[in-house]
Amino acid sequence: MTRWPGVIDAFRAELALLPAGAPALSLGEGNTPLVPARRAGRGADLWFKWEGANPTGSFKDRGMAVAVSGAMATGARGLLCASTGNTAASAAAYGARAGLPVTLAVPAGRVAQGKLAQAAAGGAQVLELEGGFDEALRAVRDAGSLRPDIAVVNSINPLRLEGQKTAAHEVVAQLGRAPDWLAIPVGNAGNITAYARGFFECREAGRAEAVPQLLGVQAAGAAPLVRGERVPSPETVATAIRIGDPASGPLAVAAVRQAGGRFLAVTDDEILAAYRFLAQEEGLFAEPASAASLAGLWRALDEGLVPVGATVVAVLTGHGLKDPERGLSLGEAPRACAATGAALAALLR
Ligand code: F0G
Repeated sequence: MTRWPGVIDAFRAELALLPAGAPALSLGEGNTPLVPARRAGRGADLWFKWEGANPTGSFKDRGMAVAVSGAMATGARGLLCASTGNTAASAAAYGARAGLPVTLAVPAGRVAQGKLAQAAAGGAQVLELEGGFDEALRAVRDAGSLRPDIAVVNSINPLRLEGQKTAAHEVVAQLGRAPDWLAIPVGNAGNITAYARGFFECREAGRAEAVPQLLGVQAAGAAPLVRGERVPSPETVATAIRIGDPASGPLAVAAVRQAGGRFLAVTDDEILAAYRFLAQEEGLFAEPASAASLAGLWRALDEGLVPVGATVVAVLTGHGLKDPERGLSLGEAPRACAATGAALAALLR
């Protein structure tokens, strides 16, 4: 077994946008498992791309490594991003690694506890802004233009998508071909755009014959790309994708048009059913937003959009530990038990 060097060293030849000589900043991101589904496929040949296995527990680390490396190469004095939590957690960690101060603009009261703990642990400054993610991103863009010495590391930074596309390259290598479909949760719409780019690159390089159709899954209360208009007050239990005006929306629409596929909305109940199924039937504890990909696949199979027998990769974008309170709701409360073998044996299942 050899040491995995992280996405910059592993994929530098593909990272055309990264300035030459940019440092190989890495926490070992990428090279995440492709786990075959046990029962979740419902007739599809389903695989999970387990992005919770990244260093800070989400896919954001791929793009953050590349964006922060670029910021170092261009002499940025600090990092700034808006976030529903995972980008924040990732920026805090990579900023700490790079020795750059980090400021995070998050929607007040709407970020899962694990993500806030990661931001605090990394020593980042967390600013709670009124409104939702969309308002925070607008403020970040404006602040970025007032402070050109600070690197904005949201996915409007082209290096973020450049890093995130590496997941598609891995899927093709791990599967030995492109899947027929990719099911992926969509919030700010950067990740689906990045995957599409990666899959098209694999086809151009002759590593895959085709590009998968894209199933972009949004939460019903935050589904601007399904409805074709921005949603002023998005609402969903999947707080990571509670976004009404996705910055990469136009790019994502173009990607789905080019690759084929569709955007689809699933209810919070469908998301939570998939969340429970993943944890309790597959052993994969992913956060609610990640479960949207499975909920969307189930819906697409029911509607006949994805045919039985299709090879599907569902992206599980973030770890369940990000949202411990929601995770606790999945099971029973711990029970008291006397510290004796007899008492314990009587309670065994
Ligand atoms: N899944 C998780 C766990 C996420 O954190 C996000 C986005 C998405 C899916 C959607 O990806 O935005 O590229 O369409 N989280 C961002 C954040 C918005 O701030 O952490 P997208």
